[in-house]
Amino acid sequence: MVERPASVVKELIENALDAGATSIDVAIEDGGRQTIRVSDDGIGMTRDDAVLSLARHATSKIRTANDLVGVRSFGFRGEALAAISSVSHLELETAPHDGAGTIVRAAGGAVLEVAEAARRRGTTVKVSRLFYNAPARHKFLRGRLSEWRAILDAIGAMALTRRDVRVSVAHDGKKALVLPVASVLRDRLAGVYGSEFAARLLDVDDLSGTTHVAGLVERPSDVGTATRRVFVSVNGRAVRDIGIVRAAETAYRSTIPAGVRPTLFLDVVVAADSVDVNVHPAKAEVRFRDRWQIERVVETAVRRALGTFDAGALFGRPAWVVSPAPLSNIQAPVDVEALQPPSDDPRGGLFEGEPEPSSIIADTPVDHAAGPRQTVDVPPLTQLQRTYLMFEHDQGIVLVDQHSAHERVLYEQFMRALEQGEQPGQRLLFPMTLHLGPAESEAFEQHRELFERLGFEIEGFGGHTLLVRAVPMPHPRFDPERCLRETLAALTGDREAGAHARHERLAATVACKAAIKAGDALSPAEMRALFIALRDTTLPAHDVHGRATIVQLAWDEIERRFGRR
Ligand SMILES: Nc1ncnc2c1ncn2[C@@H]1O[C@H](COP(=O)(O)OP(=O)(O)OP(=O)(O)O)[C@@H](O)[C@H]1O
Ligand SMILES: [Mg+2]
Repeated sequence: MVERPASVVKELIENALDAGATSIDVAIEDGGRQTIRVSDDGIGMTRDDAVLSLARHATSKIRTANDLVGVRSFGFRGEALAAISSVSHLELETAPHDGAGTIVRAAGGAVLEVAEAARRRGTTVKVSRLFYNAPARHKFLRGRLSEWRAILDAIGAMALTRRDVRVSVAHDGKKALVLPVASVLRDRLAGVYGSEFAARLLDVDDLSGTTHVAGLVERPSDVGTATRRVFVSVNGRAVRDIGIVRAAETAYRSTIPAGVRPTLFLDVVVAADSVDVNVHPAKAEVRFRDRWQIERVVETAVRRALGTFDAGALFGRPAWVVSPAPLSNIQAPVDVEALQPPSDDPRGGLFEGEPEPSSIIADTPVDHAAGPRQTVDVPPLTQLQRTYLMFEHDQGIVLVDQHSAHERVLYEQFMRALEQGEQPGQRLLFPMTLHLGPAESEAFEQHRELFERLGFEIEGFGGHTLLVRAVPMPHPRFDPERCLRETLAALTGDREAGAHARHERLAATVACKAAIKAGDALSPAEMRALFIALRDTTLPAHDVHGRATIVQLAWDEIERRFGRR
């Protein structure tokens, strides 16, 4: 149990917290290899209790039956102090109230001296010469810096859970951390990791039923650029819960490249009777009554946080869309459907033989629909290089990659089609026949039902030939044959098990193939439609491969370049 200095620090701080400390001072010498001192202003101990506390199974924790199942206690082994004192020189100075106190000195587990000591209420435990009598363990101590880093990590985790406690840490006489009581996680994180780091994180805050998920998570564009840190607490206790971390990571899908993992700080609060954290004290695992439900709340909360990324402001998206909205908004985030013509709408552009090019979004409120929804401010848009849309914004000049942006729009529409219901396709005036190779044919059969949900209407025509009657969301430059072929080629050999993962893969592939390309000239109406549709996505700033859809050139930067400031 006592593995290294950091585990001693952790046990001593837990004891201080158990004692109701509001202020904890830690002083470390030589990475904890010389001395570890932890002082608190908690309830302290009487002389008898102080002596007893060094004996095994001396816990005072189990006061009520509730303590046995409660989440708030750190386990009930009652032997941390005994174990530590058996492998070190230990000095325990404690007082239950200001004035009369006790000092107990022990070495190798034996009490050497008990004396009176005047001190303020609280306890100071000083552990020196750790493992002096356990050469096998002493040998495994790492260098000063390595042990010090482990200590800092342990204190950091503790400091994040208990932001109501003031903490100071010194190493070899130098102040290393001073953490005042923090009312919000961001302030505590700033204290532990620096304010620049803390300032870049995005707020998570979601309540669903009795489950509350709050915290801070990394911006997708920052993921992979610095040391990854993960912290999860459940009902105020730091835990290592792979399920919760995975759920949060799932929320990042389609915003970051595969393989990189985000920094996460999450506080999960659930009804006390729906969780049991005492499954394995060392592993700090959690057992939830309904794990699936809790993981979904975590995923939704993080997903929403990513959606609040500053792209909202960039697009002049009204605050009520950007800031926390009812949960249902995540499921059906915006009225993108309203931008689509009804399924029997005769206006199908190219595909109904109308020569006039329709907009890339098939229809826009600007041109056709009536209703309050069109009162959207769309800035004047310019197309550059037939590849980027440019517009002006308070903060600077904004460039949007038209392909990436359209891909994001289509991806989200396809995902809703796959997971939430029918997506009407557009009937082709002349059905199209498609001859497939055996592998493509197999990929099609495997995904047939999903293609239909996307809005493709496809019939077998004998052998490896397909008859395509309808395709989803066409635009004048949409080449259905090429889209289908390339999608099938990309799906060949796709045996991914999970339905959701398959949906994402298919939606991303079709979106990529169906989206307008770089080099496509867009009409003003099409640019407008794309702008509106992108603004209304949940993650406008990211394409489905984790790249940026938007680049901003700030006025500050421009002024600097012109020597105006
Ligand atoms: N800083 C402290 N302030 C007040 N009492 C303390 C402090 N540290 C230890 N004690 C007392 O000593 C007892 C033994 O502490 P110890 O850490 O060995 O066991 P524990 O905290 O009860 O259980 P665990 O093994 O889970 O740490 C505690 O139950 C508590 O009563
Ligand atoms: Mg303890």
